[in-house]
Amino acid sequence: MTDAASATTPAQLTARAAASFARTPDDRLRFLLEELVRHLHGYVTETGLTVDEWAAAVDFLTRAGQTCTAHRQELILLSDTLGVSMLVDLLDHTGAPGTTESTVLGPFYVPDAPERPLGSSIVEVAGPGRPARIAGRVLSSDGRPVAGALLDVWQNAANGRYAVEDPDQPDTNLRGRFHTDSGGNFSFWTLRPTDYTVPDDGPVGALLRAAARHPWRPAHVHLIVSAPGYRTVTTHWFDDESAYLDSDAVFGVKDSLICHFEPHPASQTGGASQTGGASQTGGASGLDEPGAPIGAGGTWYSVERDVVLAPAGS
Ligand SMILES: [Fe+2]
Repeated sequence: MTDAASATTPAQLTARAAASFARTPDDRLRFLLEELVRHLHGYVTETGLTVDEWAAAVDFLTRAGQTCTAHRQELILLSDTLGVSMLVDLLDHTGAPGTTESTVLGPFYVPDAPERPLGSSIVEVAGPGRPARIAGRVLSSDGRPVAGALLDVWQNAANGRYAVEDPDQPDTNLRGRFHTDSGGNFSFWTLRPTDYTVPDDGPVGALLRAAARHPWRPAHVHLIVSAPGYRTVTTHWFDDESAYLDSDAVFGVKDSLICHFEPHPASQTGGASQTGGASQTGGASGLDEPGAPIGAGGTWYSVERDVVLAPAGS
């Protein structure tokens, strides 16, 4: 062989490490691995990474992995707080014009939420919180209603916590799946979401503190909307009064996803005219509706928001 047995320069080492993947049969996997080596080596070379810093990074990643449980995903959180999750979203979800934009899934999604009837509440326990009714239609990008579309929604409670991370909440609290009616309509009751901190008692929280970054996310409702023949969208509805819209710890805010929670006095009726054509109409008060959260009183809020899906393959 003509090459020296060992690489003597950083460039030689990088080339050898990248070339070690040259026989990977899968073209895409080979490309990803070779580029991973080149970019990782570029980072190490350009920063002049020391052995101690490398060891600290390995220790950090080890602890991040060990922090993961069935209900805690520290590595997604790391990706989120580095902006990587949103970068992937921006590159991989180039939605058709006029369709609902996507954003991060986040670490608190749990599949198989209860299927609930339109107009019902996802609030399973009486307690603090501001009742809110969210309604709208699921539409195709050509404006036609999408009947039978599935909305999978989840959000946090008034204490800022999701059921999956809070032993004091039933597992299915503030989670639900709804199917649109024949006119593409949906509606459900919930609580107005609250600002919250990402889990900051682990390695990622320590990283944020070391960088003098706050761990707050602006209040939002999560949803995944799917229907046969359409591209599934994973997104949020953000509260336009949150103080953290400009500094989301995970960079997830898009302007088109910011919603207004319209306040109503307790005595004001709900009903189709105010809530996007949903079929559940109000009684003497919006809070008298059968689906209103248990024990709700005082001001309630409404959001009207359509979801526009792109055809599959577009
Ligand atoms: Fe969230």
